Amino acid sequence: MEQHLTVGRAAELAGVSVRTLHHYDRIGLVRPSARTAVGYRAYSAADVERLREVLGYRRLGFGLREIADLVDDPATDAVAHLRRLRGLMLEQRDRADALAAAIDRELKARAMGITSTPEEQLKVFGAQLYDTIGSAYPATRRTDPRIAARIRDALGDARTVLNVGAGTGSYEPPDREVTAVEPSAVMRALRPAGAAPCVAASAGSLPFADRSFDAAMAVSTVHHWPDPAAGLRELRRVARRVVVLTYDAGTPGWLDRFWLSRDYLPEFAELLVDWPSLADLAQAVGGRAEPVLVPWDCADGFFEAYWRRPEAYLDEAVRRAVSVWTRVGPEAEQRAVSLLHEDLDSGRWAERNRDLLALDAAELGLRLIVA
Ligand SMILES: C[S@@+](CC[C@H](N)C(=O)[O-])C[C@H]1O[C@@H](n2cnc3c(N)ncnc32)[C@H](O)[C@@H]1O
Repeated sequence: MEQHLTVGRAAELAGVSVRTLHHYDRIGLVRPSARTAVGYRAYSAADVERLREVLGYRRLGFGLREIADLVDDPATDAVAHLRRLRGLMLEQRDRADALAAAIDRELKARAMGITSTPEEQLKVFGAQLYDTIGSAYPATRRTDPRIAARIRDALGDARTVLNVGAGTGSYEPPDREVTAVEPSAVMRALRPAGAAPCVAASAGSLPFADRSFDAAMAVSTVHHWPDPAAGLRELRRVARRVVVLTYDAGTPGWLDRFWLSRDYLPEFAELLVDWPSLADLAQAVGGRAEPVLVPWDCADGFFEAYWRRPEAYLDEAVRRAVSVWTRVGPEAEQRAVSLLHEDLDSGRWAERNRDLLALDAAELGLRLIVA
């Protein structure tokens, strides 16, 4: 019985009750594969591994039925479970940090005799997506100089520029007077020292008078707004010129443009089900849309950035800095990554995408709307 743990010892080590382990056994979630000489349940190394996965998912708040589906999935091995658990734990920690920071702010406000509105009190729990994933953003998201040049040209001679959904400040032109707008506290906190002043607000309701700025820009953010057209009309209201970097999901066959969504992550399409057409977006600001090609060595690690460097998508840090991966959920993510891994190893990816290797830039649906 040397390699086995008795039920009592397993419960003690894991910090759960023996009753819990008996329950897991009864429902078939973790069945100890042996018995001691006197008939106690005994857990082998493989049983313990499964128990650890179950307890990890339990700690994250998954229900027992959901956990059974997860741990029984033959496509997910022990390492994949550990990676997923790690990502989810870090996400939960970031969310708890954001919540604790919001509570601190409220305590401070109360100490000064300020009571928050009912809306403010509830908003604390509906954390912004970027309050959850924002801390992973700076690892790979930065200004790509070629895309920055297109934005700068489009801004023309604008002296005052509003950057909406500004994040950490990529693409803010250093030679203009920039005001940033960013609703996520985590993203605001990640702005580098010396970055433009940043106002906590959302695109749908900009706290500025009509025509306050020469230009307003919005880069890789419109798809996060609850009402993109209304947000764009706000940009139009507060600025004389509008420059928006966004995505065209309306052209037929758009999903097939990029091998990652075509062959590995079809769930990407579901994220854009209610997405307005490019024509509607351009119309909201009264502008025209121009294609923006993605350079093969794009410095900004957005979803499409690594189209000619597929191995990059195997890197957890690359994926965590792109909201698509969090929004499709851990199962789709893990499946896509495992499949890509296999195809890279077997040479199938290279066979299918041979033509891409000759390109220096690709048309993957990025559009610059200029008005
Ligand atoms: C992919 S990041 C882009 C950040 C930056 N513009 C860049 O290019 O690196 C998207 C940003 O949009 C912000 N965002 C989300 N909802 C928003 C809203 N309703 N109004 C304005 N910004 C929003 C997020 O908090 C996040 O910082």
